[in-house]
Amino acid sequence: MADHVVIAIDGPAASGKGTLARKLADHFGLNHLDTGLTYRAVAKALLNAQIPLDDIAAAETAARTLSLSSLDTLSLSTHSVGEAASKIALMPSVRRALVEKQRAFAAMPPGAVLDGRDIGTVVCPDAAVKLYVTASAPVRAKRRWQEIVNAGGTADYDEILADIERRDARDMNRKDSPLRPAIDALLLDTSEMDIETAFSTACSMVKEALAEGNG
Ligand code: DC
Repeated sequence: MADHVVIAIDGPAASGKGTLARKLADHFGLNHLDTGLTYRAVAKALLNAQIPLDDIAAAETAARTLSLSSLDTLSLSTHSVGEAASKIALMPSVRRALVEKQRAFAAMPPGAVLDGRDIGTVVCPDAAVKLYVTASAPVRAKRRWQEIVNAGGTADYDEILADIERRDARDMNRKDSPLRPAIDALLLDTSEMDIETAFSTACSMVKEALAEGNG
């Protein structure tokens, strides 16, 4: 493997890209950044301070002062923070501030796996490997629903599906850095795969791409 490797993983909400990114980072001994958490942290800072989500100046300040070392996955994973994050993710000045931090993270040795919506297209266009992970919206809704039920909660499948479709539309149709596969991304559709199969498939794709890049 080259001295410094960056793997970019993009895809829609609940596609399994986060789990894959974490497992790939472990497997290849790389750092990992879930860039969704950076948008969520900015949104949560505004929610905590009761600042309206359309206050661009406040959101930009929160983005500029964000420290990647203090991202608390648990408190950032709630539904309301996710909804708020997809709204502040529309703001170009917030995106610029966060992309700068994400690039600095990717540059740290020995390299990193970053997952998000615009990693292969904007944040790390020179990444050695780019994966675009998808699954059909009903499959993603079913997985989300199962996660909640397994954790002892109750959830309405139709509501989750509607939410996923709304989030997809917002992420794919925004003007700045919309969610889409980079032209050189490898596509991985996990609709028919469990996580073990998705991981072994992703691992083979990464190894092959790295071997080709070195050859
Ligand atoms: O992946 P997630 O659900 O944690 O992301 C939350 C929101 O952040 C999502 O609706 C879109 C936004 N996001 C983004 O615009 N760009 C990224 N690289 C990561 C997330």
